[in-house]
Amino acid sequence: MENSNINSEEEKWWGDKHLELINGFWFMPFFIPGVHRVLAEFNPRPSDVILSSFPKTGTTWLKSLLYSIINRSSLDSLVNNNPHNLVPYLEVQVYGDHHQESSESSTHLSSEDTTRLFSTHIPYQLLGKTLESSGCRVVYVARNPKDTLNSLWHFVNKWKMGEEAPWELEDAVEKFLRGTVPYGPYYEHVFGYRMASLKNPSKFFFITYEELKDDTKSHLKRLAEFLGCPFAEEDDKEVEEIVKCCSIEVLKNHEVNKSEDCLDWFPTPYNSFFRQAKVGDHTNYFSDEAIKRIDAFTEEKFHKSGFVYGI
Ligand code: A3P
Repeated sequence: MENSNINSEEEKWWGDKHLELINGFWFMPFFIPGVHRVLAEFNPRPSDVILSSFPKTGTTWLKSLLYSIINRSSLDSLVNNNPHNLVPYLEVQVYGDHHQESSESSTHLSSEDTTRLFSTHIPYQLLGKTLESSGCRVVYVARNPKDTLNSLWHFVNKWKMGEEAPWELEDAVEKFLRGTVPYGPYYEHVFGYRMASLKNPSKFFFITYEELKDDTKSHLKRLAEFLGCPFAEEDDKEVEEIVKCCSIEVLKNHEVNKSEDCLDWFPTPYNSFFRQAKVGDHTNYFSDEAIKRIDAFTEEKFHKSGFVYGI
């Protein structure tokens, strides 16, 4: 029958690109088999650490920080590896169609007593049961909606997917508020993990990009405590060294991160993960009208529910 394969839970977002809906969240078709496999097969160990985030909220930074906290004295790894190859995405490098069997990404095979560190963009609403079934620790990084969207808009325009027309900013704002961006809606994504952290703070650590920017050192120590590997007073130099080695100024200058080559699993260059890293950078691009629209939406979605964040 003609049209019998049309999926009604499918929407266009950028150019001719589609997203598909799973339980209220939008996914790029390319990642869906991996997402399903994570939900069906991933059995976290109590000792696992999962970094969860909405895209463009500081994932790369957190990967380098968490990796350094867990693998003390391994700062050289950051010189030679992009953070995405040190901390694999569950739905891509571990369970995705293009999973890698390299030593870094096959950490899921490692022995029971090593701390495995994974990342994911899968929302709490889908992954929460799996995460809570095991007692593993989850770190969630959130970023204010305008800088998140600004970062996403720049990032998408760097993808090398053929002859795409640029993603216009007005369209990006529209889609972001509608929720039809990869892993969207943003507001529900953040809210899901925030509620989990309020309910279960010993297992879910919720931090914002802005807090981390404001005082990286103190939050790094808090993260280490949460992960059960606190720094002692006399480790202060080591803490400062990690902060420096994970700063954008240092990371973006490593050859591996300057590379125009694309990731093995996605057509975006390594250097596209390192841009301005500024709080409030959206003001350089967004119109007053767009800012007002997003702020009104944020007030409705976050503030009215008691989460005063993002404006
Ligand atoms: P901007 O586009 O605003 O510059 P993600 O890692 O989730 O994809 O997020 C990317 C954003 O984090 C980009 O923001 C990028 O510049 C910023 N970023 C990358 N590395 C960082 C670091 N070491 N410290 C702070 N921000 C970083």
